[in-house]
Amino acid sequence: MKIRTGTLREIKQKGMKFACLTSYDQQTAQIFDEAGIELILVGDSASNTVLAHDTTIPVTLDEMIPFGQAVARSAKQSLVIFDMPFGSYELNSEQALGNAVRVLKETGVAGVKIEGRRTEQIKKLVENGIPVMGHVGFTPQTVHGLSGYKVQGRLDDADRVLSDAIAIQEAGAFAIVLELVPAELAEKITKELAIPTIGIGAGNATDGQILVWTDFAGLGEKIPSFARRYLSLREDLSKAAVQFAKDVKSGNFPSENESFR
Ligand code: KIV
Repeated sequence: MKIRTGTLREIKQKGMKFACLTSYDQQTAQIFDEAGIELILVGDSASNTVLAHDTTIPVTLDEMIPFGQAVARSAKQSLVIFDMPFGSYELNSEQALGNAVRVLKETGVAGVKIEGRRTEQIKKLVENGIPVMGHVGFTPQTVHGLSGYKVQGRLDDADRVLSDAIAIQEAGAFAIVLELVPAELAEKITKELAIPTIGIGAGNATDGQILVWTDFAGLGEKIPSFARRYLSLREDLSKAAVQFAKDVKSGNFPSENESFR
């Protein structure tokens, strides 16, 4: 069944949960799609995981578009959402609409994600038929403004995060990511909102959970404490590469069966 934005809302209304992963390429998108992952995010975390930057700030729209194309071509059932990179929507709603239209036309994704309380931009996109996913709590594109990688919404700040989430729902977002917020606050926001919440480092009361795929698969060098490693891909790939090098050097690869006569 093709997952649409409304499907996520129905899942929430039934009191059920859904799973989301990031992807930036054909193979992982196909695998996650076939595994029944409801939402695949073409995350601007590609800036770190693919392009080797320290933050998500440097990645550009031109760099992100090919990732979106690969994922949208490969996922048949999952809802594919594209993360608008830093600098592609902040100026005003016209800038946001122009760039989101380009994303939908050139990639084939079903919607976009925008960080922060950008209600004017969200309204404009939604009025023009572009589904938008919000993102509050810790917003990586403003890491410097937030003084580093910190949990948001502790103590007096909780009301601000809740009010941002409500404003984003009112602007027309179909779902919202809650990143690095205390579990109790994420639970409160999830109960308050009609749209689904998707947690990352936000406890287990949200309607959905998202992980960066390289964290989930244990491929990254450092994995955040809130992420669970479902594989040890870094270790396995490393062992395989060492073995391959040995086999080549010893003449063990290729064998008779791996050669043509
Ligand atoms: O870019 C990304 O991968 C994200 C998720 C962590 C939500 O924004």
